[in-house]
Amino acid sequence: MKNEFLEKLNAAFKFIIKEIKQTFIDYAIILGSGLGNIPEVLEEKIVIPYHEVPHMVKSTVKGHKGNFIFGVFEKKPLVIMEGRLHYYEGYSMQEITFPIRILQKLKIKYLIITAAVGGIRNKLPLDLSDIVLIKDHINLIGDNPLRGPHYEELGERFVDLTNTYDKDLIKLAKNIAKKNKIKVYEGIYLATCGPSYETPAEIEAFKKLGADVVGMSVVPEAIVARQAGMKVLGICYITNLAAGISTKPLSHLEVLETATKVAYKLNLLIKEILKKL
Ligand code: HPA
Repeated sequence: MKNEFLEKLNAAFKFIIKEIKQTFIDYAIILGSGLGNIPEVLEEKIVIPYHEVPHMVKSTVKGHKGNFIFGVFEKKPLVIMEGRLHYYEGYSMQEITFPIRILQKLKIKYLIITAAVGGIRNKLPLDLSDIVLIKDHINLIGDNPLRGPHYEELGERFVDLTNTYDKDLIKLAKNIAKKNKIKVYEGIYLATCGPSYETPAEIEAFKKLGADVVGMSVVPEAIVARQAGMKVLGICYITNLAAGISTKPLSHLEVLETATKVAYKLNLLIKEILKKL
């Protein structure tokens, strides 16, 4: 008997291949909240809105456009996901990571995940607009994208997450940041379900767990990407200090405003990383 999920995935993949007419793409980038202008540097651009792709659910969040943008940068074909899907939108883990499965079908080797985060100021003196390279994560979403039926052709059932965030990619990113005088930290990302921000008590607890930054994404994407054998680089940018550390109430508008301020240095960092990959 044919499997419904794999059939949906194949349909989505076939649709995309028909639009882009090629399959050798090694690099993918997921753009977080408020980061708009990286796609501008791509040549031979082909934009495919998520809602046109069979079986993909719609992004419902302000600041997340919802497009696959295929193109070429420095002679390298790549795909940018402009906006992502979140668990808090009410979708299942399988639905929000469906685009990562499409990337897997495209045989993407390197996945750069970017995300807006709240800074926890645990051991790092984090401030607004700082960039943090993710060295590991703590999953407190309460779900896992690999839960449920297992499809042998998509990878192992029990996936090792020891090196979820690739050490060589972190090293490369740090070197490039240094050369370009961009300050970067390495830290631990803690994922919550959202969409409410955390309470100050939760942030105090997360500090004790060892978290440096908190966000509502990244982890489902990274887990699926690892099952698919992709090398993952996680880059977050502090759009606000976490609840209780910030003296102001948290707001999505502030998140978007700060994100536009970091976009310049983040674009530079990502472009230089791509040149070296
Ligand atoms: N908490 C959770 N997710 C976030 C935050 C935050 O403070 N800022 C940006 N995304």
